[in-house]
Amino acid sequence: MTQDTKNIKIFDTTMRDGEQSPGASMNIEEKIKIAQALEALGVDIIEAGFPAASKGDFNAVKEISSIIKKSQVCALSRASQNDIQSAADALKNAVQPRIHTFISTSELHMKHKLQLDPDQVYQKVIDSVSFARNLCDDVEWSCEDGTRTNLDFMCKTVEAAIKNGASTINIPDTVGYSVPEEFTHIISHLINNVSNIDKVTLSTHCHNDLGLAVANSLAGVKAGARQIECTINGLGERAGNAALEEVVMAIRTRNDLMPFETNIKTEQLSKTSKLVSTVTGFPVQFNKAIVGKNAFAHEAGIHQDGMLKNAKTYEIMTPESVGVSESNLVMGKHSGRHAFKQKVIELGYNVGDNAIEEAFENFKSLADKKKNLYDEDIAAIIEDQAIRVNDNITLIDLQVIAGTKGPQKATISLEIFGDTKEISSTGDGPVDAIFNGLSELIPHSAKLLLYQVHAVTEGTDAQAEVSVRLSEKGKSVVGQGSHTDTLVASAKAYINALNKLIVKREKTEPKQMSVTL
Ligand code: KIV
Ligand code: ZN
Repeated sequence: MTQDTKNIKIFDTTMRDGEQSPGASMNIEEKIKIAQALEALGVDIIEAGFPAASKGDFNAVKEISSIIKKSQVCALSRASQNDIQSAADALKNAVQPRIHTFISTSELHMKHKLQLDPDQVYQKVIDSVSFARNLCDDVEWSCEDGTRTNLDFMCKTVEAAIKNGASTINIPDTVGYSVPEEFTHIISHLINNVSNIDKVTLSTHCHNDLGLAVANSLAGVKAGARQIECTINGLGERAGNAALEEVVMAIRTRNDLMPFETNIKTEQLSKTSKLVSTVTGFPVQFNKAIVGKNAFAHEAGIHQDGMLKNAKTYEIMTPESVGVSESNLVMGKHSGRHAFKQKVIELGYNVGDNAIEEAFENFKSLADKKKNLYDEDIAAIIEDQAIRVNDNITLIDLQVIAGTKGPQKATISLEIFGDTKEISSTGDGPVDAIFNGLSELIPHSAKLLLYQVHAVTEGTDAQAEVSVRLSEKGKSVVGQGSHTDTLVASAKAYINALNKLIVKREKTEPKQMSVTL
């Protein structure tokens, strides 16, 4: 029986369901970066997108399919031939492709959303799965709104999906309505009532509207599910999906109660979480389980005392097991090029010779400004540099007058497609003055949806990491910038977002390649 295995497949949908979070859109380069991080993390199946939804999604799935070799690459499709064909086309170069097709099966969805009767939906299950199976050896079928579906009808459709070639059956709690006992019951009911269920892997796909996504996923596993669909940081529609890091660490930490294993290299969890947060501009809440800033911090004196005597008194898992190490004081201004390069490699970055030279110069100038340099500072330098590689607009100089007497003033000098341009602007506060100046130099209609600052390390001399989300004509981009001066970091983040908008424009309107956004 498929249910007898101890291995739980981890199916990551950060780039599909996760991207459905309003404002969490990612560009193709960012998706490739995330896909590579998920592969390094040991994710079994990466759901890379929904190719029929947009050209961007199609291209992202196509690119990821040619790059990812160890993980399976999956594409989502509705129950139509067009969608399924589009998924198959996008997956053409994948080493291990999977088509994931779905249709709603609850009364509510069939009647009001699909306007189909159960017999018509049943026929669509047969048609869609068999069509997909003719195009791909690995087909997953999902009954959308599964937890509000009549169980007899669910058994009937699941049996048909298996008969027509599905090898994974996924049960979504689409609206995050279920509770653990109920989810266990649904999985057990399928195992006990569907004659061919032993031929497939059962899967969970739980949303977090009641904060029960992880609990429901684990309840499904206890009943016999052997695949969990989840996202990094629990990203996803509305309240999100089950958080990958939480389900994996729950299984690892409570292996006495859940004697299962996953292929996840848990030491990479923290790094992957940070990458997804940076790319999407969605901050990780401080007290978030596993990957929150405070997940391993001990503030109360009584806890600190216990920790010093034996870490197990207050720690159920080690910070190292999820890739959190003590903030390492790394180097200072006297550190050499070689030691710097070693440190960059140790932090897991693969940086070419020219880039390392530039990073070393940036490191030196940071060391002049900042007393203590930590691993996080080096990581911020490398990442800041990486996101600026193809920028057509760069910041040359920024001077700001701030203080209690407004209006505050910014003088900005930019290089725009090779030309130097300068402007002085005012605003209600220094950030407003900078953004007003940038908007005058590079006219655009994008709206500012998010402006967020966080400190890379402790202390008033810490580098600030700023994220800016801009939205234009329904498309949004996130820009980042870091610097010891928060205002410089803000300008860099806004400029980075504008650069991304230009790239987006060039792709959708290739004839209008100009600075005017
Ligand atoms: O939540 C859901 O039902 C989904 C399906 C497409 C699997 O995301
Ligand atoms: Zn979903």
